[in-house]
Amino acid sequence: MKHILVTCALPYANGSIHLGHILEHIQADIWVKFNKMLGNKVYFICADDSHGTAVYLKAKSLQINPKNMIKNILVEHINQFINFNIFHNYYSTTHSKYNYIFLKKFINRCQKKNILYTKSVLQFYDNTKKIFLPDRYIEGTCPICNSINQYGDSCFICGSIYNSIDLINPISRLSSTIPNLMYSDHLFINLNIFKNNLIYWINEYNLNKNVLNQLLIWLKNDLIDWNISRDFPYFGFKIPSKYIYNKYFYVWCDALLGYISTFYKYCKYKKSINLFSNFWDINSNYELYHFIGKDILYFHGILWPIILNILNYRQPTGLVVHGHIMINGIKMSKSLNNYINTNNWLQYFDADSLRYYLASLLNNSIKDINISLNDLVNKINSDIVNKFINIASRISGFLYKYFNNILSKLLWDDNIYNYFVNKSIIIYNLYLKFNYNKIIIEINLLLDIINKYINDHSPWILNTIGSKLKNINNLHMFCTTIINIFKVLSIYLNPIIPNIISKVKIFLNIKKLSWNDLYKPLLNHKIKKYINIYNRLNILNINKIL
Ligand code: 2FM
Ligand code: ZN
Repeated sequence: MKHILVTCALPYANGSIHLGHILEHIQADIWVKFNKMLGNKVYFICADDSHGTAVYLKAKSLQINPKNMIKNILVEHINQFINFNIFHNYYSTTHSKYNYIFLKKFINRCQKKNILYTKSVLQFYDNTKKIFLPDRYIEGTCPICNSINQYGDSCFICGSIYNSIDLINPISRLSSTIPNLMYSDHLFINLNIFKNNLIYWINEYNLNKNVLNQLLIWLKNDLIDWNISRDFPYFGFKIPSKYIYNKYFYVWCDALLGYISTFYKYCKYKKSINLFSNFWDINSNYELYHFIGKDILYFHGILWPIILNILNYRQPTGLVVHGHIMINGIKMSKSLNNYINTNNWLQYFDADSLRYYLASLLNNSIKDINISLNDLVNKINSDIVNKFINIASRISGFLYKYFNNILSKLLWDDNIYNYFVNKSIIIYNLYLKFNYNKIIIEINLLLDIINKYINDHSPWILNTIGSKLKNINNLHMFCTTIINIFKVLSIYLNPIIPNIISKVKIFLNIKKLSWNDLYKPLLNHKIKKYINIYNRLNILNINKIL
């Protein structure tokens, strides 16, 4: 049995959960549910990223205290995830006592290692808004490849990481004015001393090769030292004045440490501090996976391993990195009117439809993920309703009418049953590698095979000339075989469409579905009367959710 800790990037506490967050959580949750089916012990944690300029500015615009705002948003986020059937073992906030404790531990260890120093640096200041501008609040032309409209920290086009003051034609995104350059003292961590170790660590990670290549490109150059302090006004933890006067910890420090402190809080809540060290000890052989978007790879592939090393903790087992979400080929944004509000989604569609559709697009690659709602509706109606659920609805009538819903003692065709079970090797490996889109392709091939098999045997023409089944006993064993194949397919689909499969379990009259159940066909077992499991999606609802 494996022990696995899974995290998703911590959503900022300055707005609702959007489809991009849901995509990542669904990607992680499918893997969590798959591992649970195998009998592994999996912990899925997350938290709100409650600090930083974005949160500060949002609270200011709402004219409320940021502490109150993040409390309200935390409740909203937790509910939004639950509504999508995403149940974390623990969902916390980075604005917590324990996060501050880990932050202080971290900075103490930096000092002991002699890698902290202060330096006066030039930074962009927005004179109209009276605030130092974070990198993502400055836009300009990439100093490396000359692409326009790039953020102050990195270029989306060429992937370069640079210092914001090197940006060409910088402009404040807050006020659309040209920001001034001002000196301010800041606290830095010397990163370059970790470079060689970092190359070693990341080569050990379970990573997609494009992700590894991107990290190695960054590691070709010296690493820019990390400025971990921010000026007032800011919403965050104050840095103890023995290190630097009147500054705040940069939000990314406490965000990353949020992975540790959230799990610590969970272990405390479970009264199991051993569990904490089992996962985070330098020699831990438990697994740690982070699901993230490609825009925050630098933080997780360069800074996070260094933070862990400074704390004398273990390295992650792997990073699962996805691309940006697009709606009909266009970046999702409120101003472009293609922003999908997750609360709205559930008014017209269900969580499983989105889970299935996203799974059909996800494959552990950093390519952007394009959502087409027309495509989604067609895919669900064709794959789930016409091909999958239809198997049960076609066969259940015979079992009800002739056999009192009791399955036969033997299968009609062991070969076809074994054929479906043996596909588990392929599907298991695809799940392990996060290749969900290939799973959906495999399952659709299987669905076509079983539907054709049912048609070929035409159970509805029993007792007529040409009937393959010929008599009622054969019909009984035939229906039992089909129901068992339906169960095998339900095992494969369970991590992806858990709600639908819960209803399948009620129909099959079973409590659990684990991966091992593949090898235990239901024989001489009473199932329930079939009642509708899933309804077709209405294509007309598409316009209502955009
Ligand atoms: O990019 C973001 O949305 C960040 N809030 C992610 C933080 S992930 C981790 F470091 F906590
Ligand atoms: Zn560039």
